[in-house]
Amino acid sequence: MNEQMKKVSAHHDWWSETYDSDYFEHFALYHRITLDNIRRFLPNDKGAIILDAGGGTGIWSIELARMGYRVVLTDISEGMLNKAREKVSELKLDNQIEIRISDICSMPEFGDEQFAMVLCEGDPLSYCGNHRVAVKELVRVVQPGGIVIASVDNRAAALNWLRKKDDHNAIQQLLQTGEVVMPQEREEFCYVIHAFTPDELRELFESNGLSVERIIGKLVIARRLACFKSKDPIIQEWLYHLELKYNDNPAFYPWAGHLEIVGRKNLGPGT
Ligand SMILES: C[S@@+](CC[C@H](N)C(=O)[O-])C[C@H]1O[C@@H](n2cnc3c(N)ncnc32)[C@H](O)[C@@H]1O
Repeated sequence: MNEQMKKVSAHHDWWSETYDSDYFEHFALYHRITLDNIRRFLPNDKGAIILDAGGGTGIWSIELARMGYRVVLTDISEGMLNKAREKVSELKLDNQIEIRISDICSMPEFGDEQFAMVLCEGDPLSYCGNHRVAVKELVRVVQPGGIVIASVDNRAAALNWLRKKDDHNAIQQLLQTGEVVMPQEREEFCYVIHAFTPDELRELFESNGLSVERIIGKLVIARRLACFKSKDPIIQEWLYHLELKYNDNPAFYPWAGHLEIVGRKNLGPGT
């Protein structure tokens, strides 16, 4: 493991204890929006195998297994995967979800074109230290005509992390290269994150043989409204529908903390 990976996995080992409770407390709407997006592109064949790369505690693997798919869940953090193992075993989904340590930048354990769909949700491409190599790997293992979905940090929104410090060098670096050290309470968890622009993300997918089917912002509007924290189900439903209506509108991308891209692997010549 290189230094970046060591820091990322140590951070997620530590976070694994509270990841699910933090997630469902602060990201319930985000979860619904992501699920809506994934559902649009699911394979028709329920026997299909899906790779949940950088899948952490298995939030998406479990959703997919409950729908009937078989899933391979990978991550570099043992802590995150241990949480996933506990949940998978409690839910008796062991037959459908295989769990293994693996780095998205190098997956020699998987053959070419092995998966009908590949998910890379919740920023592994931003954290992995080499997103160009990682996307090549994700594309290699997906079948022609199969889908790759990835969500990443959004460069416009990442500026917020730096706004209080007024550190001109860090701001320049983020704007020019997309690289920024995300502030964390513990120094040992501070690592470089790559925050993408929508055009850069599109180019990354297209130059690796994927046709881009959709880019959405997560979340584009709801987090800016005071009622975002309301527990009223009618308000939450209204926010959900606002997001669905505007989240693929490029005018609203800059407001989103994350960008999610969907690409379909091009069919090779003669297929
Ligand atoms: C914010 S969590 C998201 C987990 C899960 N995908 C989700 O949406 O809930 C980011 C995950 O990416 C994993 N990760 C970061 N770099 C990785 C790499 N190079 N290979 C595999 N997983 C990685 C982390 O360990 C962590 O579990």
